[in-house]
Amino acid sequence: MKAAKINTLLKSSKFKQVIAVQGWVKTFRANRFIALNDGSSINNLQCVVDFENIEESILKRINTGTALYLEGTLVKSQGSGQKVELKVEKIKIYGDSDSDKYPIQAKKHSLEFLREKAHLRIRTTTFAAVMRVRSALSFAVHKFFQEKGFFYVNTPIITGSDAEGAGEMFRVTTLDPKNAALNEKGLIDYKKDFFGKETNLTVSGQLEAESYALGLGEVYTFGPTFRAENSNTTRHLAEFWMIEPEMAFYDLTDNMNLAENFITSVLKDVMKNCFEDLKYLDERLAKEDQSKPKVERSPMGLLEKINFVIDNDFKRISYTEAYEILRNSKPNKKKKFKFPINEWGVDLQSEHERYLVEKHFNCPVIIFDYPSNIKAFYMRRNDDGKTVRAMDILFPGIGEIVGGSQREERLEVIEKCIKEMNIDYEELWWYLDLRRFGSVPHSGFGLGFERLVQFITGMNNIRDVIPFPRTPQNAAF
Ligand code: 4AD
Ligand code: MG
Repeated sequence: MKAAKINTLLKSSKFKQVIAVQGWVKTFRANRFIALNDGSSINNLQCVVDFENIEESILKRINTGTALYLEGTLVKSQGSGQKVELKVEKIKIYGDSDSDKYPIQAKKHSLEFLREKAHLRIRTTTFAAVMRVRSALSFAVHKFFQEKGFFYVNTPIITGSDAEGAGEMFRVTTLDPKNAALNEKGLIDYKKDFFGKETNLTVSGQLEAESYALGLGEVYTFGPTFRAENSNTTRHLAEFWMIEPEMAFYDLTDNMNLAENFITSVLKDVMKNCFEDLKYLDERLAKEDQSKPKVERSPMGLLEKINFVIDNDFKRISYTEAYEILRNSKPNKKKKFKFPINEWGVDLQSEHERYLVEKHFNCPVIIFDYPSNIKAFYMRRNDDGKTVRAMDILFPGIGEIVGGSQREERLEVIEKCIKEMNIDYEELWWYLDLRRFGSVPHSGFGLGFERLVQFITGMNNIRDVIPFPRTPQNAAF
């Protein structure tokens, strides 16, 4: 018999029917009550064993984690807490689970412990909820752009250019490390490598997306990106997913409007489609908060925080305004910042971003028009000669979630920047062609997908919102 999914059964009112389900045992109580979960819902199906039909030898094998196929009658639930339950008349065991050895017990495990068991942690309520939300969020991302007429482009993962300068890169090579050919200078001869040149894993699809925007108009990428920076924080992964829209004929204001609209739209979508999971995560976070000292507790619950972001405009300020606020702030005057703010042009550190977002404005903040010396070569120069049309979006509890800009479309200007910043001009020949032939004003941004998943699920560590995290010294599984 074809098994039904638990999420549909829980909503069903077709009682007295014989049906089949399959899944994993969450708990088995009193040798009679099986809470079964198949991943389709945060809720388990309560299954009540009918002793007349089931042998004791089968019941003995049922533990937390056992994989089962069950047949029985769907009935109105006797107990509270659920509408329906299954009167079990037939049990087939797919896979036993030794309760002494199964790491996922029916009790609370620490997230650190579960990270070591990343192959099994998806069977916990929390991770299943997070990953369902992650899935719904990626669907919402595609839906948002597709409905707006954007085209999805797949930019290369192996790249021959490292001109973006967004971070350290992972090399891709087939050369034998013990026996690599050397050139006249005694350095590794990449002409002998697979691609005949040095290649890396991409840090961003932006430059290639620009090429496509200047033909298709409005495009977006959504794919894996890689950064070999040694940042062991709760916000950095070595392998993460980035969404990068790139639009012809957009200036920076259009870009900021799109980014804000994009974020609030996908949040709304997931609130609608994953409400039960988010409600669970909200309660989870509230419980976790209770165990913290009062001053560290969050002023808002998870659902409240998401709704706040949906309902309120993001605050937009220039770098210069942000700089003035920070320079005159209490922590700066009292020398509480690790990096003091005393000179226009300094880069903003996460302590400053958090102050602006969590203490000063208490809402998402977009900072634009950054000093050119702390931003990438491709950002459009302002007429003041010292700032560029960049924008970063900062989120409470997360910090930077989006980085973007209007792009420099003027050939002479971008050539000058490339030279000033000592960037390999030859590598960028094709990128400069985009400014040589039919150049137009254009803009784009990159949103770190996992950071958005962190925000919406309330998970504090980025390692807990991607199935198998890659971080320094860690590529298990
Ligand atoms: O600010 P970034 O470096 O911008 C770019 O790469 C541009 N090329 C994007 C563009 O304009 N198309 O990265 C964009 C976002 C950050 O704001 C952050 O959310 C995320 O990517 N991000 C990371 N997420 C997880 N782990 C890391 N190591 C990340 N580095 C950046
Ligand atoms: Mg950035």
